Amino acid sequence: MTEIAGKAAVVTGGGSGIGMGLAKELARQGATVAVADILLDNAENVAAEIRAAGGNAVAVHCDVCERDSIHRMKQAATAALGPIQLVFANAGATSFTPLVEMSDADVDWIVHVNLMGVMYTTRAFLPEMIAARDGHICATASMAGLLPGWLPEHVPYSAAKAGIIGMMMNVAVELKPYNIHTTSYCPGGVASNMKANNGRYRPARFGGPEEVAEVQFTGNSTAHSSLAFYHPEAVAPMVLDAVRHNRAFAFDHADQRRLFRETYANVVEACYDATEQWEREHGLPPANPTGAELLDSPAF
Ligand SMILES: NC(=O)c1ccc[n+]([C@@H]2O[C@H](COP(=O)([O-])OP(=O)(O)OC[C@H]3O[C@@H](n4cnc5c(N)ncnc54)[C@H](O)[C@@H]3O)[C@@H](O)[C@H]2O)c1
Repeated sequence: MTEIAGKAAVVTGGGSGIGMGLAKELARQGATVAVADILLDNAENVAAEIRAAGGNAVAVHCDVCERDSIHRMKQAATAALGPIQLVFANAGATSFTPLVEMSDADVDWIVHVNLMGVMYTTRAFLPEMIAARDGHICATASMAGLLPGWLPEHVPYSAAKAGIIGMMMNVAVELKPYNIHTTSYCPGGVASNMKANNGRYRPARFGGPEEVAEVQFTGNSTAHSSLAFYHPEAVAPMVLDAVRHNRAFAFDHADQRRLFRETYANVVEACYDATEQWEREHGLPPANPTGAELLDSPAF
């Protein structure tokens, strides 16, 4: 179990949407919270709301695309709350543009903010967690990283979100001896500012903020035509329940289980049928002795 009460938490992207919901719920469950965001005013509003409700929260500026900015945020958060045990690497942004029409800067930004932002945040907070043998990292991925076509015209975003899931599963093995656990949270439709003018979050090195028209989500995804968007404050307790139970994944739309199962059943059956057929016809490929030695190593 990962206790929430009495712990110090950081939530990146805590100034809006899912991060705001997580920050408030963490405080409600007795954690102290550093609300970190590239838009400091929003983080300050959330921290003020938490304090007004009797919680303990600070707002800290942070651009998760920059290691230095994350380290400054960590120093400020630790100075205010003490060592951090719960990290919610949640900041993210998206673009609703076909891959070939995206600018190079936007492709780099979307991969960077979603994937490298989680990588940098995780690495920044790990040393103290490892020393304390206590911690949990919950990274906000997406159903877009799990299900092909769940959100069309989201290529760099989907790639980055799939990368987060790989990162969390792999680092969990590395961190097991230190009592540190990970959760990949895969939102399946939460009402937030994600669709509205994400360009305002774009850091200077990727071209700076830009005002773009709000995208109207058409429901044109494989999820289903009437995708329900839940309130961030309603999904946050589900996410914290997964964290408390050290679950590798957190989902918020139980009805998406069918789509998930069908997708992977089809992939697994179709691909392994073909592989088994190949082996029957051609025999097993010759084993590579170097590879076998590698697999005998203690790491495996
Ligand atoms: N809303 C959904 O349905 C949904 C679905 C799947 C995944 N997600 C993921 O949930 C996370 C939160 O998104 P949301 O839906 O609450 O949207 P949101 O736009 O309301 O919140 C995103 C927050 O991240 C902050 N942010 C953006 N770039 C940043 C940066 N470089 N450094 C620090 N903070 C930055 C923004 O200022 C904002 O406060 C994202 O990672 C998003 O990809 C959301």
